[in-house]
Amino acid sequence: MSATLDAPPLDPPPLDPRRYFESVAARDSVAERPPVCLYLEVTNRCNLLCETCPRTFEALEPPMDMSMDLFRKIVDQVPGVARVVLHGVGEPMLVKHLPDMIRYLKARGTHVLFNTNGTLLAPRKHQEIIDTGLDELRVSLDAAEAATFLKVRGKDMFDRIVRNVSTFTNLQQATGATKPLVSLWLTGLKETVDQLPEFVRLAARIGVKEVHLQRLVFDEAGFGMARADSSLFESTRAEEEAVIAAAQAIGREVGVLLDASGATEPGLSLKKQADDKPWATCRRPWSLMYFTAHGRALPCCIAPFSARGYENYTLGDATQQTLREIWNSPAYRDFRTGLVGDEPPKPCQGCGLRWSL
Ligand SMILES: C[S@@+](CC[C@H](N)C(=O)[O-])C[C@H]1O[C@@H](n2cnc3c(N)ncnc32)[C@H](O)[C@@H]1O
Ligand code: SF4
Repeated sequence: MSATLDAPPLDPPPLDPRRYFESVAARDSVAERPPVCLYLEVTNRCNLLCETCPRTFEALEPPMDMSMDLFRKIVDQVPGVARVVLHGVGEPMLVKHLPDMIRYLKARGTHVLFNTNGTLLAPRKHQEIIDTGLDELRVSLDAAEAATFLKVRGKDMFDRIVRNVSTFTNLQQATGATKPLVSLWLTGLKETVDQLPEFVRLAARIGVKEVHLQRLVFDEAGFGMARADSSLFESTRAEEEAVIAAAQAIGREVGVLLDASGATEPGLSLKKQADDKPWATCRRPWSLMYFTAHGRALPCCIAPFSARGYENYTLGDATQQTLREIWNSPAYRDFRTGLVGDEPPKPCQGCGLRWSL
């Protein structure tokens, strides 16, 4: 039996790889179509200690980079996949063979992106990154100045990252490179939302055209700064909304798009969702698969942030099973059934109120 998940072709194909989840029509326990997006955690190692990140507070799995063999084994089973995200919980630029992974995917026309903390975006790597054909490079900066960066991200590396990004966009301008699209990301915290207007100005100064306000995800107990009382979107106050509006106005002046809606993932607007079933619009288990560096299948990129203990929501193992076996396995089918019901699986219970992008 062929291990490919790539038949039949998607109909209609997603118009915009960034809105891949729109390809999902029915939300039954069996997914009729193969995933259109893969999240591959190319490493779970990291060189920062972010206060919002679960890996700062506990080892989720033993330290590991995804091998090129496992990477190929996974992506070769979904040759028509529209979009591959090359990060999970860890810093992808620590992985030596990351450019090989990008080239491998770009050779077949996949939309490829990853989030990075930007610390390792050294100028000597810039041309190689551009030459891989990478589509999006998202830099998680979380602050508009060094002191706040240190507070949120745990190390004093703000200036280096800003320099790295600025040098990168300068090279793009000088050479006429239109890809990757570089964006800056700020995880929404009550403690840092006031940085947003200056964050947008900073983006403009260093040649970045898109800024994203990312929704904080946290679990019941909370960890570090990832807790309900820090979450911007759990109960956005009038003054916070005013700061966001002011930052958007500045963005219009300086030519930077500020996306603070969460509309690049399912759910569109938090406010539109029913309060009693906030998870009800999620389409992730029908549109994407997520694999850790060890090959463990998890339901999505939110789960490691929203529920503890991978063993409680592991859906398969790509080192032991084909993707086809995992995708409609009893574990996956039960997960989907739970998600469309009144008692969703643990990682989904607060979702919709706590979207991450
Ligand atoms: C886990 S990181 C992995 C990639 C890379 N290390 C980075 O920081 O961009 C992926 C994204 O999650 C963001 N993030 C960290 N903690 C978060 C939280 N509690 N809720 C939502 N997003 C979070 C990071 O800022 C980053 O944009
Ligand atoms: S958010 Fe990214 S940079 Fe920060 S600790 Fe987590 S994986 Fe590392």
